[in-house]
Amino acid sequence: MREDAANDDDDRAGQPAPDVGGFDLRALPGDFIADPYRYFAALREQSPIHRMGDGSYLLTRYDDCVAVYRDPANWSSDKKLDFKPKFGDSPLYEHHTTSLVFRDPPDHTRIRRLFQAAFTPKALAVLEPRVEALVDGYLDHFEEAGAIDAVTDFAWRLPVDVICDMLGVPAPDRARIRDWAQAILGGLEPTLSAAAFAEGCGAVEDFKRYLRELVAFRRRNPTDGRSGEVLTALIEAEADGERLTELELLHQCIFLLNAGHETSTNMLAHGIHELLRHPEQAARLRADPGRAQGCVEEVLRYQSPIQINNRRAVRDVTLGGQPVPAGAVVHLMIGAANRDGTQFPAPERFDIERKPNRHLAFGVGIHICAGNTLARIEGRVAISRITARFPGLRATGPAKLGNRIRFRGIESLPLAI
Ligand code: HEM
Repeated sequence: MREDAANDDDDRAGQPAPDVGGFDLRALPGDFIADPYRYFAALREQSPIHRMGDGSYLLTRYDDCVAVYRDPANWSSDKKLDFKPKFGDSPLYEHHTTSLVFRDPPDHTRIRRLFQAAFTPKALAVLEPRVEALVDGYLDHFEEAGAIDAVTDFAWRLPVDVICDMLGVPAPDRARIRDWAQAILGGLEPTLSAAAFAEGCGAVEDFKRYLRELVAFRRRNPTDGRSGEVLTALIEAEADGERLTELELLHQCIFLLNAGHETSTNMLAHGIHELLRHPEQAARLRADPGRAQGCVEEVLRYQSPIQINNRRAVRDVTLGGQPVPAGAVVHLMIGAANRDGTQFPAPERFDIERKPNRHLAFGVGIHICAGNTLARIEGRVAISRITARFPGLRATGPAKLGNRIRFRGIESLPLAI
């Protein structure tokens, strides 16, 4: 029996499946952002390994995406070939080709090992009370004000405060981090205007200048034991000269500060939004707060904050029975894989008790999100506390979706208690 009316296939009832023969990420239909899942369902059905105009392939089936993620020897994450024509010799090129996510072993392995220790479940358990205190502080403000914006006053603040603490970024500097992150990550969109390119390059340069000063300060004032432990670990690796160069240090910091908040912000905002769209599920969560982790996993599946990852074929390969030539780029469509009915029964249904829920929101394989445990803690604490504390939580206006397709976000969502 259907329990609430906001599952995506109900919203589309009676609409014919779109014809996706000419589907192209660089020329998207006008209603794509509002409901990309309708197009993904048609692609999985009509053209699961879909060749686009530029010779790249769009993968929308779960099994095909997993096969690529799990085979780094055949599928490279290195983006130099992709970004040279797009970015030239610019700061955006320098950043996106130096951060670990876009590199292959052995460089990727060397860099990932350096800060892995700070992101293990054991290390992060210590952080949980701090996450709780931060969340309670934002909710105290909500209670006093009676109304907030879910994004600027809540969903954005927690991940920024947490990752900035880990890197020792002082509170007054945090607003700038958001602007820089948006400009730098915006450079990864399939289409890039001249203005967005210039903004992204400016943001990389400003960010580097800022971090050089922060690193110099941290060298003079080694960590106080309460914040900045990740930066200290990276500085030590750079100091021994062999493990990390200065440029690598700066770009991993930029990457962590960006990766550590934009995505988590979107997870929290989508979480609040989906629970408002599905009051019956919110009631279940309230009835048993032990369902909070399941709820977070379902939000991550249902509205994956990162919708696309990319890989390049190192040699001729066969994928889902189809030949893909060496050099071809594939777009791993996370949001589509996460609604593949062969892996998730009733995939268009939002169900916080879905089990198993092996979604790909954090990727899988050697590049699996290094911050996934941290993001999961942030999600569980934030979603469970806001739901428990404000049973009458309601939206006072529509959610405004961001217009990016790689990072699926909500820009604003006005709330009242
Ligand atoms: C809901 C929040 C998040 C989502 C959905 C997310 C998603 C992802 C995905 C899909 C990847 C894999 C990229 C690929 O395979 O090409 C990734 C990588 C990564 N993420 Fe996250 N992320 C989130 C939060 C975080 C946080 C909080 C941090 C750090 C504080 C973080 C740090 C990283 C790092 C360092 C990598 C690169 C790992 C590697 O290349 O080995 N992420 N993330």
